[in-house]
Amino acid sequence: MTKLKVGLLFGGCSGEHEVSISSARAIAQALKSGENTNKYEVLPFYIQKNGIWQGVEIAQQVLAAGSPYLPTDEQQGKHNLWQFPSQASEIDVWFPILHGPNGEDGTVQGLLKLMQVPFVGTPALGSAVGMDKLAMKTAFAQAGLPQVKYIAVNRSQIYSNPCVFPKLCDEIEATLGYPCFVKPANLGSSVGIAKVRSRAQLETALDNAASYDRRLIVEAGVVAREVECAVLGNDQAKASVVGEITYTSDFYDYQTKYTAGQADLIIPASLPDAITTQIQEMAIKAFAAVDGAGLARVDFFYVEQTGEVLINEINTLPGFTTTSMYPQLWAATGIPFSELVDQLIQLALERKVNS
Ligand SMILES: Nc1ncnc2c1ncn2[C@@H]1O[C@H](COP(=O)(O)OP(=O)(O)OP(=O)(O)O)[C@@H](O)[C@H]1O
Ligand SMILES: [Mg+2]
Repeated sequence: MTKLKVGLLFGGCSGEHEVSISSARAIAQALKSGENTNKYEVLPFYIQKNGIWQGVEIAQQVLAAGSPYLPTDEQQGKHNLWQFPSQASEIDVWFPILHGPNGEDGTVQGLLKLMQVPFVGTPALGSAVGMDKLAMKTAFAQAGLPQVKYIAVNRSQIYSNPCVFPKLCDEIEATLGYPCFVKPANLGSSVGIAKVRSRAQLETALDNAASYDRRLIVEAGVVAREVECAVLGNDQAKASVVGEITYTSDFYDYQTKYTAGQADLIIPASLPDAITTQIQEMAIKAFAAVDGAGLARVDFFYVEQTGEVLINEINTLPGFTTTSMYPQLWAATGIPFSELVDQLIQLALERKVNS
């Protein structure tokens, strides 16, 4: 049987480069195990932090080492940013596992579409909408999904003449109150996000978030449990069991996310059945709202006191390491890791046929 050549694309120009390497290691392993061995040949491709693509040889080295490739100036000089490794032309299906900007936001998906080769995951539109917190909230509101109160802010309001900024802060205080969360619209991994409790903290947080992004969002803070649901499929997507994240820090910030032992995943979350069902239905609705394909992890706030479920966000290329929430949710639902990656590739081929 001829094996399908899977281009595993990882690394990338975002703060989540290292997470991407871990995700790719786990996926490469799964594609080389059990029945997948007979179906797939894995060809890894590595995108350096500066955007340069490296072919199979270096990509294999990065996967084996589990850490980024740091080329010398001499090695660097040989590569042109727009020169793809020649093996890229052999690929039957791409499996991009790039998290954050320049990978999860539609940029790479647009490029893969131009190549006219099927790829795993959501195409350019849904990836871009899912990445930009303001566009995402607009799509969710349109779909009737409840979310926290928020205000959209543009960097120009922060770097403005001295009249505009205090008025913006007054409006935030009057509409949202404290605590509130200041976020860049387009980052991820909680980078640039601050929980603020006073005017002075608000001013500092807005200034800091504006250094990361032109578009910002300020949200009312809620006291809630954080629960997540995985989605798998194309037009007939299904939802997994629901998981919960618990931690002792003030919120689920960068350090808590990436320091071992700082957060716990509870799968399945202990929730009333009606709430679990509601979360699963909302996850599928959110996936459809951004025109998702293949996979997504949808994150929610469950306000136990009032019984409210609010959608927080959708991640169209969620963390995919062996200990990540997305594959663990599916394992608990009855789809082990290696079967999950197989299904994702089959969904990519199916969508190519139907699109
Ligand atoms: N409105 C809010 N109320 C309470 N807690 C919040 C709120 N917004 C964010 N948080 C806390 O901050 C964390 C990070 O926020 P959020 O999920 O919006 O960004 P992100 O994780 O950086 O985005 P991405 O998942 O795309 O990487 C949340 O998991 C939660 O702990
Ligand atoms: Mg999040």
